[in-house]
Amino acid sequence: MRFDLPTSWRHGRGLAAKTGDIIKELGCKQSLLLTDAALIRAGVVAPVVGSLAAAGIEYTICGEVTQEPTVALVDDLAAKLDLTHCDSIVAVGGGSVIDVAKSLAALAQFGGSIGDYAGINRIPAPLTRKVIAIPTTAGTGSEVTDGSALIDEAAQTKFLVLSTLLCPTVAITDPEMTLSLPPSVTAHSGADALTHAIESYLSRDASIATEPFSLKAIALIAQGLPRVYRNGKDLAAREQVQIGATMAMIAGMNAHMGLCHALLMPICGLYHMPHGRACGMTIPYVLEFNARTCKDKAVDIFMALGFLDPDSGSEAVSESCYARLRDFFAGIGITGSLCDYNYHAEDMPVIVRETLASVQCRYNPIVPTGDDITRIVKRMI
Ligand SMILES: [Fe+2]
Repeated sequence: MRFDLPTSWRHGRGLAAKTGDIIKELGCKQSLLLTDAALIRAGVVAPVVGSLAAAGIEYTICGEVTQEPTVALVDDLAAKLDLTHCDSIVAVGGGSVIDVAKSLAALAQFGGSIGDYAGINRIPAPLTRKVIAIPTTAGTGSEVTDGSALIDEAAQTKFLVLSTLLCPTVAITDPEMTLSLPPSVTAHSGADALTHAIESYLSRDASIATEPFSLKAIALIAQGLPRVYRNGKDLAAREQVQIGATMAMIAGMNAHMGLCHALLMPICGLYHMPHGRACGMTIPYVLEFNARTCKDKAVDIFMALGFLDPDSGSEAVSESCYARLRDFFAGIGITGSLCDYNYHAEDMPVIVRETLASVQCRYNPIVPTGDDITRIVKRMI
């Protein structure tokens, strides 16, 4: 078994307003604050800026990160921003901002294009610049992960730079930073987090160390997500979902994702739907498929979701459990089929081929065949 958690995770309501003190504790004096323009306009970044000033940290602000960041964006920012004297990068935003911060910390040290580091373990040495990740969504888990997901615009594909050396030094989760998220983004990021928790629990690499994180994350997200979807100002529910999302990815980074995430690469690519929405549409079918070989784990998942009593046996798992999971997602606005996204029969071979090519299939409890994938996708049409 191997269990990595290189990131120091700090959590608390209002904790983002203490970022400056945390940076000082790390021995840093000069920061780049990386974010996006909308978060600056909405005032979400203000408590972090105030804390840097109060702690005497010199800083510059860059609000140029966009959704779905590209190689060109990262390379341009690395060239434009003078990071020579910067000892820390504070990322305030969703997964995109945090992923770009990790990449900039690598480029500032090693040079070149971020595309040069695509793949696994291509970062040559530990990063000297500290990355402090402050998520404003509750879903991707990028604040504790070893990856940076970027778009290669020339090849029109998404790729990953993966290395434990990219894990942020500190993750600061503060539910107050997620209060301005609109319901749809709350639902999609929460569905992503719930899927991370379920897939990591089912994974062949799940272990005695990861499983408690997965199950607790499922319970927290299942309790909090419907509430926070209905009322975005429900700070206690925001906190449940956020802690659940980070716990899910602590498990996920160590146990890895499975067939659902393998399917999402072609599905999101073909139908341009948000990753988290596709998670909610897909995971009930993938769970049902996997339960053929791990019914006991399916029982645990449905108990954590609150769908089964604590003393339920494996015979308690029935079609109604999966229907209830689909209803759970419908309750947060994740409904519809692939046909609503213009699915055509000729898409099926593409979905099958790209899913089978994904490394994530190898972590799935059942290594799927092309026929298995076809059957699952047909249920989603
Ligand atoms: Fe995901």
